[in-house]
Amino acid sequence: MKTVTVNIEKSPYDILIGKDILNQISSYLQQFSRIQCISIVTDDVVSKIHLEHLLVVLKEKNLKTNVCVVKAGEKTKNWSNLKKVTEWLLINKVERLDFVIGLGGGVIGDLVGFAASIVRRGIRIIHIPTTLLSQVDSAIGGKTSINSDQGKNLIGTFYQPSLVLSDVSVLRTLQNRDFLSGYGEVVKYSLIKDIGFFEWLEQQDILTLQKKDESLIHIVETSSKIKSDIVTKDEKELGIRALLNFGHTFGHALEAATGYSDRLLHGEAVVLGSCLALRLSRSLDLINQEDITRIERHFISCGFKTKISQIPGEPLCLEPIMNLMYQDKKVTANQLNFVLLAKIGEAILMNNVNPEKVKRVIQDSLMS
Ligand SMILES: NC(=O)c1ccc[n+]([C@@H]2O[C@H](COP(=O)([O-])OP(=O)(O)OC[C@H]3O[C@@H](n4cnc5c(N)ncnc54)[C@H](O)[C@@H]3O)[C@@H](O)[C@H]2O)c1
Ligand SMILES: [Zn+2]
Repeated sequence: MKTVTVNIEKSPYDILIGKDILNQISSYLQQFSRIQCISIVTDDVVSKIHLEHLLVVLKEKNLKTNVCVVKAGEKTKNWSNLKKVTEWLLINKVERLDFVIGLGGGVIGDLVGFAASIVRRGIRIIHIPTTLLSQVDSAIGGKTSINSDQGKNLIGTFYQPSLVLSDVSVLRTLQNRDFLSGYGEVVKYSLIKDIGFFEWLEQQDILTLQKKDESLIHIVETSSKIKSDIVTKDEKELGIRALLNFGHTFGHALEAATGYSDRLLHGEAVVLGSCLALRLSRSLDLINQEDITRIERHFISCGFKTKISQIPGEPLCLEPIMNLMYQDKKVTANQLNFVLLAKIGEAILMNNVNPEKVKRVIQDSLMS
């Protein structure tokens, strides 16, 4: 088993990464005092596949458990489910030293993390991420959120978990498309920070990767290290944490424009957004064309869409996408700020980018 420690001041915690490690959850819980009750929140897909196993393992140690199941999918990250989960925790009389477990993908982690941060001003949470995306990204760093009609992830808190258990064995049951979506965030880490990791990813066969435990452990560990390094230096995103948003300014706008539906999953939007950010980087003379071609070749070989025109359904239009871009959390004084790439492995934050250049990049991707 691998351990990556997130050394955030005042609330450090471990990410445990390995194969079949859920079986040992009770021994990992021993480090915490006075656990009386564990409230598990999961979604209606994960509950059918992985919940029973977790309950059995916890019951073996005579731990009392309660379970709340919400509907799977991005639309679940809303006010009404936040109310449902928080009220459920209160009805179950959770105390500040009790634990809530978020068992599921990024949707569950973001929603349950938010609920845990506000119930009794904070109850302890353990993330058991069950998608590749949540193991490499959303379970780490303490961002919690729900969506608003005004945009994605606009309502939320920073709230660090007490422990993250990333068991790569649970990834086998993921749909291919969900696995690939998570892989989009993995490539993002390599692009912003680690060319060696990008080269390693280029060598992998995406079709068999999901079943290769050792490769998955390497991916989750490398990504967790990159993310935890960054969030340790900048917990509240006042500086370099913004680099993790490479591809996300465009990506979030595209997710909102497609109604957070399965027309475009989060990681797919990040890949599309990365391609747009690369084009923007090129138009600002930051990156060379060879790097862009190489990155796009990798995305295409994995089966990702790289142009807005490839999104299925009603064609998208420039103006709504531009309006949504101004809702990005990096917008300051109504100026568009972007994470761009100087080369593979080196991201930079660029403030006050000319909106005309942004429009041109979007327009090209809509038309091509
Ligand atoms: N907090 C953060 O820092 C952060 C970072 C990145 C993304 N996010 C958020 O994460 C969300 C996306 O996360 P996601 O891609 O994990 O989506 P998700 O939680 O919707 O999971 C995708 C699908 O996979 C199913 N699933 C989960 N685990 C499974 C398993 N082991 N086997 C079979 N099916 C399984 C889910 O039920 C769901 O249908 C977005 O809302 C995004 O905004 C947050
Ligand atoms: Zn993301």
